[in-house]
Amino acid sequence: MCGIVGYAGNQQALPILLEGLRRLEYRGYDSAGVAVLDGGEVQVVRRAGKLEALEQALGSDTALNGVSGIGHTRWATHGQPTDRNAHPHLDCSGRVAVIHNGIIENFYTLRQQLEADGHRFASQTDTECVAHLVEGALAEGLGFADAVRKALKRLEGSFALAVLHQGDPGVVVGAKRDLPLVAGRGEGENFVASDFAAFLDHTKDGVILEDDQVVVATPERLDVTDLDGDPVEAYEHHVDWDLSAAEKGGYEHFMLKEMHEQPLAIKQTLEGRTDPQGRLLLDELRMSEDELREVDKVFVVACGTAYHSGLVAKYAIEHWTRLPVEIEIASEFRYRDPVLDRNTLVIAISQSGETADTLGAVRYARRQRARVLTVCNTVGASIPRESDAVLYTRAGPEVCVAATKTFATQLAAMYLVALYLAQVRGTMFTDEVASVVRELEQVPGKVELCLERSDQVRKVAEQYKDAHDWLFLGRHVGYPMALEGALKLKEISYLHAEGYPAAELKHGPIALIEDGTPVVVVHPSSHVYAKMLTNIQEVAARGAAIIAIAEDGDREVAAHATHVLRVPPTAQLLAPLVCLIPLQLLSYHVAVARGCPIDKPRNLAKSVTVE
Ligand code: G6P
Repeated sequence: MCGIVGYAGNQQALPILLEGLRRLEYRGYDSAGVAVLDGGEVQVVRRAGKLEALEQALGSDTALNGVSGIGHTRWATHGQPTDRNAHPHLDCSGRVAVIHNGIIENFYTLRQQLEADGHRFASQTDTECVAHLVEGALAEGLGFADAVRKALKRLEGSFALAVLHQGDPGVVVGAKRDLPLVAGRGEGENFVASDFAAFLDHTKDGVILEDDQVVVATPERLDVTDLDGDPVEAYEHHVDWDLSAAEKGGYEHFMLKEMHEQPLAIKQTLEGRTDPQGRLLLDELRMSEDELREVDKVFVVACGTAYHSGLVAKYAIEHWTRLPVEIEIASEFRYRDPVLDRNTLVIAISQSGETADTLGAVRYARRQRARVLTVCNTVGASIPRESDAVLYTRAGPEVCVAATKTFATQLAAMYLVALYLAQVRGTMFTDEVASVVRELEQVPGKVELCLERSDQVRKVAEQYKDAHDWLFLGRHVGYPMALEGALKLKEISYLHAEGYPAAELKHGPIALIEDGTPVVVVHPSSHVYAKMLTNIQEVAARGAAIIAIAEDGDREVAAHATHVLRVPPTAQLLAPLVCLIPLQLLSYHVAVARGCPIDKPRNLAKSVTVE
């Protein structure tokens, strides 16, 4: 899960590469490096640690002079995140530099063969073998792009890579298999990168590469070919969001900004998808109503936070459509021989549209002839492109590694999918659908209100910031929210937290409770309200400090809870959309109080493109 960027143009490459890397840091930040063709030589600077460490090593924006180059930000797979293992990697002569995202699965065999042929390796990475393979092909007399193509044919595994060669100034060659690579078309300058964000200052137009395609970028041209060098028609793409959307805009952290963008993001995700009578209009799905009527089972597959939105959706789909729903972590789904056929609807949920396990699950499901619908935030990403149908969330770019606004919009989108299935299959009357749609439309205002209560959450967070074990409990749709609350706290504050179905606590985790252990209970009004209250008493009796998330007007809860974080009353199935706000704010304020880095937590990456 690394970020790569390449530049071929007429301006100084280094500042452009560094800016690109800053925007790609969400993909990994263990180490970073650049290679620039400077004075006819490939010059490389690379450092372990975040981008600042590389910038310090470079000293100034003009440390390397040259108009073509490549840059990399790394999330380590092979080899520790040291200076030596940081990309770019060079061949023996130091004339070929390679940056890579992915895993070369046959690298050990390749390395042995290359060493037997006399190549000397300087790092422990799988990537370095690509530089030596290109070196070998150049030595046979092949041109630069052909040499890269020849090297690629020997690789097994996944890659998005970019290569620079001393003998070909002004040329950057990129290629991909299974991992994202795009190319940007500027004026007198062209780009390759993991993501359009890397060069959005310069152009919003470009192409999304398909697997086993190679792009040759020069200042004047972007030529896309297959691995044999035959020209192919590339998938053109225009980015429709602005770079300002990916800036902090006065907030202290991206996470805070993105939490505050939730009312708008939910509103945008709902907009234009219903008619004035509240009927769902989801023609954009590219799946006919007949196909949806044939569905007799639903599988939801996702990872991380997206999985939690799928868990909530299970309750809604089953309740509104009476279709059986299974939900599975994407990495488990395809390795356990699930029962799928043409009438199974597999719903993949992914913010990035790139997560390797979710992509693998989608491919598996399609091979079994199931129909695949994707809910995704990234237009044109691999998962939506490989699915039968897609519903885009409209959260805009999310920079903080911990997902907030994309989760809120996944919930909103999944409610729409559930209602649409109910509408098409006739399991809800039109006025029932319209009534839920109206309630959904109230949600952005309620979320706004929850955000305004941030200070109350902060006071509670500061009080418990040093508690090393936290429990999060919920029932019904409160249970996935408990999981999400615990995940957020773990991700950004590095505290141990567990989410549990409230009644299950008695079967083990209750043993963890000591005097003052914070237990967060997601407790909106519901048909299991009274049972939840009993569970609260069980933990309170053992000394837990209860932090309850409960509705305005709920008087009963205050008698049992140590703190009550209030949310506006909301229909039971939709309550996750409001309960998530105090949960997010709680993890945010705890992490701030503990001095954690918030937007780039250690060891994590936003886009997990390895299995
Ligand atoms: C990573 C991110 C999470 C995200 C998960 C799934 O772990 O840190 O925030 O929920 O991947 O990502 P996806 O892009 O598929 O939603």
